[in-house]
Amino acid sequence: MNTVDYLRISLIDRCNFRCEYCMPAGEELNYILSQNLLTSDEILTLLNEVFIPLGFTRFRLTGGEPLLRPGVVDIVRQIAQLPQTQDLAMTTNGFLLDTMAQDLYDAGLRRINISLDSLEPETFDKIIGNRGKSRWERTWAGIQKAYEVGFNPLKLNVVVIPGVNDHEVLNLAALTLERQWHVRFIEFMPIGNGHLFSERAWIPSEELRQRIRERWGLTEGEVRGNGPADVFQIPGAQGTLGFISQMSECFCDRCNRMRLSADGWLRPCLLNETGQIDLKTGLRSHLRLTELRQQVADLLQIKPEINFKQRESGTEGTYTRTMSQIGG
Ligand code: GTP
Ligand code: 5AD
Ligand code: SF4
Repeated sequence: MNTVDYLRISLIDRCNFRCEYCMPAGEELNYILSQNLLTSDEILTLLNEVFIPLGFTRFRLTGGEPLLRPGVVDIVRQIAQLPQTQDLAMTTNGFLLDTMAQDLYDAGLRRINISLDSLEPETFDKIIGNRGKSRWERTWAGIQKAYEVGFNPLKLNVVVIPGVNDHEVLNLAALTLERQWHVRFIEFMPIGNGHLFSERAWIPSEELRQRIRERWGLTEGEVRGNGPADVFQIPGAQGTLGFISQMSECFCDRCNRMRLSADGWLRPCLLNETGQIDLKTGLRSHLRLTELRQQVADLLQIKPEINFKQRESGTEGTYTRTMSQIGG
């Protein structure tokens, strides 16, 4: 059985962007009330008493937008200082990094993945929900700042949406020629608000690789990270290219992770809602920590059966939470 030792911890479901594939436009989301967010003490208790004893050593902070969480720098510091933490990373939209990157680095964060779906301010603004074109500039400044501060590897996540940003694939790939950045192309998933797009609205990674191969050539690269990306490199480039191909290639059988939502639900699979455990209610009703640990241990046992097997079952799944609520 695959070792599951990577926990993605969502710190908040709110975001300062509103990417159309992640948060439904128009209707208001039912945001988690602040009293229902796991407190930083509760997160630490769960790590120390439940997850670390079960072998978890790699952690990623996600959102919504994790930098909107009050006290995020302290949470980073506390998790970074745990002796069992072997890897601590964050996935962010980068908008607040120009002012926060140094503090995060000083608190012990070393790896950061930043969403950047476009190099064109206008296209970017359309994707993030018309928040103003200056948002691209500030996000770009945040990425530069993170690099200057020393985050390494620095990864950029691009969700490729046909007809919206797929014409930029070569420009985005070209970022790796002169910079030690890692640009990862993600096949768009029909999850949450993804239903807005027709089922065929995704481009297989192999098609993107073919475009890049024709332009520059492409060789296999060295994998750095815990995720499902296949890594390649343009010959002679400083950085690498990653492809996350959850639609064209099922990687569920090598899944190494679980997800903890900001309101304390533990979710064994991104694309399947079966088996979730309400750890917050367990904690707040003073269930013994050994009992909570046993519940998670039992969930780990059955995780392989829960892991989504879309292509086998032919189903798309049902989603009651958006990506912003799950943490990506
Ligand atoms: P690294 O450790 O840097 O490799 O991180 P990562 O790729 O695990 O993290 P990141 O948050 O950057 O994930 C990028 C994207 O990969 C996510 O937004 C999802 O689209 C996709 N992804 C990550 N984990 C899973 C998963 O378990 N299942 C599926 N289907 N997609 C996933
Ligand atoms: N399909 C693929 N990736 C998605 N993300 C959000 N929604 C989707 C989707 N429907 C990605 C974002 C970000 C991460 C948190 O999740 O681009 O990199
Ligand atoms: Fe915010 Fe990230 Fe969702 Fe975009 S993808 S709305 S940046 S949480």
